[in-house]
Amino acid sequence: MAKRVVLAYSGGLDTSVAVRWMTDNLGVEVIALAVDVGQEGGVSADDIGQRALDAGAVDFLVADVREEFARDFLTPALKANALYEGRYPLVSALSRPVIVKHLVQAAHDHGADAVAHGCTGKGNDQVRFEVSTRALAPDLDVLAPVRGWGMSREECILYAYDHNIAITATKEKLYSIDDNLWGRAIECGEMEDPWAVPPPGVWSLTVPSENEARDLVIGFDAGVPVSVDGEALPLVALIETVGAAVGSYGWGRIDMVENRRVGIKSRETYECPASLALILAHADLESITLERDLAREKSRLEPRYAELIYDGLWFSPLKQALDAFVDESQAAVTGEVRLHLSPGSCQVTGRRSAHSLYDYALATYDAEDVFRHEDSAGFVRLWGLSVETWAARQGPGASAR
Ligand code: ARG
Repeated sequence: MAKRVVLAYSGGLDTSVAVRWMTDNLGVEVIALAVDVGQEGGVSADDIGQRALDAGAVDFLVADVREEFARDFLTPALKANALYEGRYPLVSALSRPVIVKHLVQAAHDHGADAVAHGCTGKGNDQVRFEVSTRALAPDLDVLAPVRGWGMSREECILYAYDHNIAITATKEKLYSIDDNLWGRAIECGEMEDPWAVPPPGVWSLTVPSENEARDLVIGFDAGVPVSVDGEALPLVALIETVGAAVGSYGWGRIDMVENRRVGIKSRETYECPASLALILAHADLESITLERDLAREKSRLEPRYAELIYDGLWFSPLKQALDAFVDESQAAVTGEVRLHLSPGSCQVTGRRSAHSLYDYALATYDAEDVFRHEDSAGFVRLWGLSVETWAARQGPGASAR
């Protein structure tokens, strides 16, 4: 049995109760680790650290991993245009592996023999925490108190009251919210009915405030976003800038029923102005910089890549091999994409690159045309030759029929 545990601590209800519950019921020392991945309000030692200590943690640690998260987790996902089931940019799924990396490090640094998370048994996050831990540190145990304690959400709130554990906003009692630089997930409450319209109060990153349309030009270097409107920005600031601009037009919401790894269909609402806009722009830049066969093969692999991340396989050999492919594909993905923002909308209205494969002289119907029209006759004839043969002998043109 574990003696000292590092818990991934969010400051919310479940993980606060988990500190106390593990201390009392498992006889372990709990070290709370809060990982800053760019969630609203950040992670402050004064505020949530005190809450962890009040709940009974022997120590509280903070890791600000925003830069690492953006560089080593969000960037690869962006290069792969990773959207789960074609729509969800993997907000929570991407943060779990970076959190685990720091949990494992803290466990080793502080002589802990286990890590713990506050996930339920119904979700994807438990899968991501546990599989990632097994991949990085097979020597560590993983504890999942919330999965085992058998308390409902209401009972959990009562437990918190009984043990003097402060819980914050009332919203926290209604919804399960997870957010970071890549966006925000809102679950539970009325939204558990897939027909119910999400109440207007659940949105925070996509509250419309701008009425005047504007353009936003995003610059990329080898698949990595590097500038906004010509101004070079470090990654974290760039993601925040794009998110604030796009979100102010009320764009970036997702309302979907998705397939969880554990087999449950789940109604999910997200707001992801930054990630959706960046993926839109990045994929568009690829349309002029990737050669046709490379582009097609890449777009076949992208959904698989997104599934691996969703399914907790960030640290896995297939994901690693796909990363090598995706990285190799990005060498020429350098250039700019213009997004046009207007209330409720974000659209690409232009793209350019020094490596563009778009050849005006080939594409134009004007006088500058250099395309060899005469080549097409033989090409098309041979392209259709097998169909022509089939039609004549067996198909619509066969005289025997
Ligand atoms: N359904 C999303 C996913 O599996 C979001 C999960 C959000 N987590 C949460 N604790 N609210 O990635």
